[in-house]
Amino acid sequence: MSPIKQNEKIIQLKSMLRSEVKAISPYQAEIDSFKVKINLAGNESPFDLPAVVKKEFKACFEQAEINRYPDIYSEKLQQKMAAYLSEELKQKVTADQVIVGNGSDNILDILIRAFVNPGDKVLAQAPTFSMYKYFTELSGGEYLAVPLNENFNYQSLQKIINQEKPKIIFFCSPNNPTGQPIARELILKIAELFTGPVIVDEAYADFSELNLLSDIKTHPNLAVTRTFSKAFGLAGIRFGYLYGNNALVEELKKVLVPYNLNSLTDLLVSVMLDNIEIIKQRVAVIKEQRQLMYQQLNSYQKWRLYPSMANFLYIEGQKTTIFKKLLNQHGIKIRSYNSETPAIRITIGSAAENEAVLNVFAEFKQLEQEE
Ligand SMILES: Cc1ncc(COP(=O)(O)O)c(C=O)c1O
Repeated sequence: MSPIKQNEKIIQLKSMLRSEVKAISPYQAEIDSFKVKINLAGNESPFDLPAVVKKEFKACFEQAEINRYPDIYSEKLQQKMAAYLSEELKQKVTADQVIVGNGSDNILDILIRAFVNPGDKVLAQAPTFSMYKYFTELSGGEYLAVPLNENFNYQSLQKIINQEKPKIIFFCSPNNPTGQPIARELILKIAELFTGPVIVDEAYADFSELNLLSDIKTHPNLAVTRTFSKAFGLAGIRFGYLYGNNALVEELKKVLVPYNLNSLTDLLVSVMLDNIEIIKQRVAVIKEQRQLMYQQLNSYQKWRLYPSMANFLYIEGQKTTIFKKLLNQHGIKIRSYNSETPAIRITIGSAAENEAVLNVFAEFKQLEQEE
């Protein structure tokens, strides 16, 4: 085929795409113009796989029959997750209340695909994690973002719900990027008012004292999504899950691709669940480091540092732009937001990584004084 003909074919092919796919741009991370030495942009864990987990995983891998398909819906892992949740909650959780997927992104996607028809509305807070909007728009839905300000309360949410009649509501708690939790009482009142699913994205709840896991039993339209990408340090292996009413889980399975979870993810998560104490110790270290970083960065009065229940800190203010530039000059990558007031989000890293941030912070303050 001639190059001109090939080009024409591509144009024709693109014209056949669904309008929602045509309209959307692929998800993109910030592009770096410097050599990254320390990455504090993705809210990942700074810890490598625990040695014992590596060892057990290798031993299991030797036995694994990779030539065979995994369980269709990862049934054994669902059972293991249910046992883990029962232990955490001191309350019986059954395997049919759990659905597992390739990261919680996968779960968020199937939730939206299960409920949202073109034109349907999806409600969430703003600012928040970008994928609720992305998946909504991909399904042809309309995304409604309620600003997280002093008016973010039951009365205003009730009004919006009654007016807009959303199909599904997402709460991100603790919220990405602000790190703040949403009041449990507010979420429960909304779950009582609203008929559709109320999803609490608890990707960072392992770093918080607050969560809604124990409320699933009494609220059939409430579900919690969680991930092993943050506290559990498995971002590269892609594992997330939803805990909710068994009727909801049964319906969601219809949208899930059979054999969705690959055998290696299944295996590693299972080994991880046998070594949960190590993760808890690591979470405690991150929380300590968060406190330290908060105290230090809060000593600067010209920006607003948000108290955080997650593994990152969010800072708002004009000065964050200069601080980010300086961090980048030292090879430290963080997230930034071009909001009305510029803002940055810094992941809590290892003690050494955090110290590197604080050294840059000292330099930043010094430069300020010299101005
Ligand atoms: C709030 C929130 N939910 C979900 C995710 C997706 O996590 P996963 O790696 O499990 O897909 C992230 C990732 O950053 C997140 O911040």
